[in-house]
Amino acid sequence: MRAPRPPSPRTLRALVGAARAVRRHAHAPYSRFQVGAAVLDDAGRIHAGCNVENASYGLTICAERNAVAAAVAAGAKSLRAVAVVTRERHPPATPCGACRQVLAELGGDDLPILLAGPTGAPAQETLGALLPRAFRLH
Ligand code: THU
Repeated sequence: MRAPRPPSPRTLRALVGAARAVRRHAHAPYSRFQVGAAVLDDAGRIHAGCNVENASYGLTICAERNAVAAAVAAGAKSLRAVAVVTRERHPPATPCGACRQVLAELGGDDLPILLAGPTGAPAQETLGALLPRAFRLH
């Protein structure tokens, strides 16, 4: 199978825009750290998720995992790009370790991960750089 073309700059801008928009819905009354995430799937669709905290703190779900769950529920089979938006800009925040492993379930080492603050250009990473030698069952 031919490798798909990398997402266009315009698509990546839309992905970051979706992450910024959903971040406004974050439920983060305990940490006050709002996170928005958006994933681009193999069909070119964008799915978004925000963090949802709980009074029983350990039940909190990160934005990235909620975005992946939304993608899978909509029928996504793999991811082409990810955007994560927080209040941090210099440097931008990165996905937690658990979310990196969950992203690895649907993405390869070359999966682009855009990290952005509320405004400005995103930094670009890859999943392989953030999670070298991800655990994979073959
Ligand atoms: N959080 C995320 O949503 N994604 C991450 O990758 C790291 C942390 C959330 C969890 C919690 O609601 C808040 O950020 C502070 O840890």
